[in-house]
Amino acid sequence: MVTQGRVARGAALAAALVLGVSACGSSDSGSSPSSGSTPAALEGVGPITLVTGKDFSGNLQNQVDTWNQQHPDQIVKVIELPEDADAQRQQMVQNATTKSDAYTVLNLDVIWTAEFAANQWVTQLPESELPLDKLLPATVETGKYFNKLYAVPTTSDGGLLYYRKDLLDAAGVKPPTTWAEMKAACDKVLPTAPGTSCYAGQFEKYEGLTVNFSEAVNSAGGVVVGDDGKPNVNTPEAKKGLDFLVEGIKSGQISQKARTFKEEEGRRAFQAGELLFQRQWPYQYAKANATDGSSQVAGKFAVAPLPGLDGPGASTLGGHNYAISSFAKNKKTALDFIKYSIDEKQQRDNLEKTSQAPTWASLYDEQALIAQFPYLTELKKSIEAAKKRPAVVKYQEVSSAIQQAAYDAMGGTTTSEDALKKLQSKLEELTKQ
Ligand code: GLC
Repeated sequence: MVTQGRVARGAALAAALVLGVSACGSSDSGSSPSSGSTPAALEGVGPITLVTGKDFSGNLQNQVDTWNQQHPDQIVKVIELPEDADAQRQQMVQNATTKSDAYTVLNLDVIWTAEFAANQWVTQLPESELPLDKLLPATVETGKYFNKLYAVPTTSDGGLLYYRKDLLDAAGVKPPTTWAEMKAACDKVLPTAPGTSCYAGQFEKYEGLTVNFSEAVNSAGGVVVGDDGKPNVNTPEAKKGLDFLVEGIKSGQISQKARTFKEEEGRRAFQAGELLFQRQWPYQYAKANATDGSSQVAGKFAVAPLPGLDGPGASTLGGHNYAISSFAKNKKTALDFIKYSIDEKQQRDNLEKTSQAPTWASLYDEQALIAQFPYLTELKKSIEAAKKRPAVVKYQEVSSAIQQAAYDAMGGTTTSEDALKKLQSKLEELTKQ
């Protein structure tokens, strides 16, 4: 939820300073890890690297190739890191702590800005040189730390409910807006669809589980860490959210196999026709619709907003931002490459080829694109209303605690109640100064 009013913003900032929570997007100016408010000019022209998590789309290299053809003396070399967000972060942190210049442009998950900026592992970027007013404001905020820009959003992400439209239509069932409706739809449809299970998301113990847990809690009216920077997870609402996942496992509507799913394992299961409903990011849309034989569900599915306890649920804000390593040479080339990458032309091309969520706002309103991706209007709303994960320097520890609690409760080794109680005290410890 966006904090309203100057007084509330001031209070939030004060809390942020104490807790080490960023005041991203606030109009107040806070103390900053770097000294001046105008960033130093970025210098150095020549070859650079772009370090990114595994590119599921296959389109990144095409865009880099086009840049390379146009800039033969400023070649960009793509370095691909693992698929799992936590493993990507680990390699980027390792590179930064050794002050290595091997990585130039870092494709940072939206949750890492605070840590990388606070440690001065990335360089402050010149806002006036970037078309920030053309990008979705919620995405730009994720690249700020204490009101200064450290990373520019290249792709956004919002959770969507993928569902087998063919099976639902045949049974005369509408896409669900609540968890109860989803359960009822499964009870009705699954007896006619052997080998298909009800629901999956990203339930392996990694960042994806933090996303899915947070969505469940938020979709039941709870919070994980509030806008005031205070954890508040030991509540009846949060319990209802976690219970949605725990009960799903107990009843068999979520399979045990789904507890090993990151994005790609889940995508493969959906494409093999093993899932009726699935929580997934937009990138899956193009892949699951591929007609080259890789997907058995091409043309058979549709997407809808995530369901929740009493009505539509709330997505967690995902996405990736480009930042420049403080230890890199050729920072001017890096900035030029970032400008090229976030430009409308590249973002349209990327949407058309990969169905990833753009950050260039006007693309969501183009009729031709809406015809190709009918969920675009809903996706824009979902990104604008999405809940942020806590913007804290110690984000990884916060996330690990969340992952542990959710994983244990879903595994039945602890009750939801105990898991949340323990999580609350762990989060209090991590967010106090
Ligand atoms: C996607 C999102 C990212 C999130 C990750 C979790 O890549 O864009 O924000 O942290 O999934 O697996």
